[in-house]
Amino acid sequence: MIDLKSKEELAIIGGNCQVLAELFLEMGAWVQAGVSAIELDRQAEDWIVKRKSKPAFKGYRGYPATLCVSINDEVVHGIPRKDKLFKAGDVVGVDCGLQRKGFYADMAYTYAINGIEEKTQRLLDAARESLFEGIREARVGNRLFDISHAIQSHVETRGYSVVREFVGHGIGRQLHEDPQVPNFGEKGKGIRLVEGMVLAIEPMVNAGAPDVTVDNDGWTVRTKDGRVSAHFEHTIAITSDGPRILTEKPR
Ligand code: MF3
Ligand code: CO
Repeated sequence: MIDLKSKEELAIIGGNCQVLAELFLEMGAWVQAGVSAIELDRQAEDWIVKRKSKPAFKGYRGYPATLCVSINDEVVHGIPRKDKLFKAGDVVGVDCGLQRKGFYADMAYTYAINGIEEKTQRLLDAARESLFEGIREARVGNRLFDISHAIQSHVETRGYSVVREFVGHGIGRQLHEDPQVPNFGEKGKGIRLVEGMVLAIEPMVNAGAPDVTVDNDGWTVRTKDGRVSAHFEHTIAITSDGPRILTEKPR
């Protein structure tokens, strides 16, 4: 069942998303060589709690942390640990959700630590662009898989691949609501998009093959071929005047 949001609900979700977007801006300065994933997690958790919000992932199905921190060949759901140290040349995917005033917000960004290879930068660019290509299709009258198809084709025409096992999702009073939003699919297929839908769109883009495995910790997802992966996510709303990116700071 898809829960459509009223104007009032959208205003609350939008406010939450702006708080989260602000955190991601600040985290850009915290993600540095020598810093550990657990330090980043603690800093983010303090920051969220100070803003009368709750980390959304902590305790979700037993997940132990505020952030997912996924380095290099880790795709998503990397558990922050103190022995996970950032170093020059790493790409660090950070995923964070928060809950405030009864509603969730969800966002992810892949940061580059100084001196990443040019071909890695191209992967990051393609992954980030694919998210915006998908968002562009999130319009009244379009169909759900128009979003999926736009992401997939942007990624695959550049020689990269999209992960199939994990998908975007509706979001609101629950972190994960209907519909699921895959990052692959056929144009013109899927449910019709209507005003009031709020979606978390989150392409996971691999440099090599799409296949992934899960570590023994039960969470950390990594590429089977060991090659690098990137993840970007925005929470967006479908409005009568087009897609509104709620987790983007106006500049
Ligand atoms: N953004 C991811 C998602 O929406 C993160 C979930 S991590 C979890 O699925 F720990 F909460 F599961
Ligand atoms: Co999500």
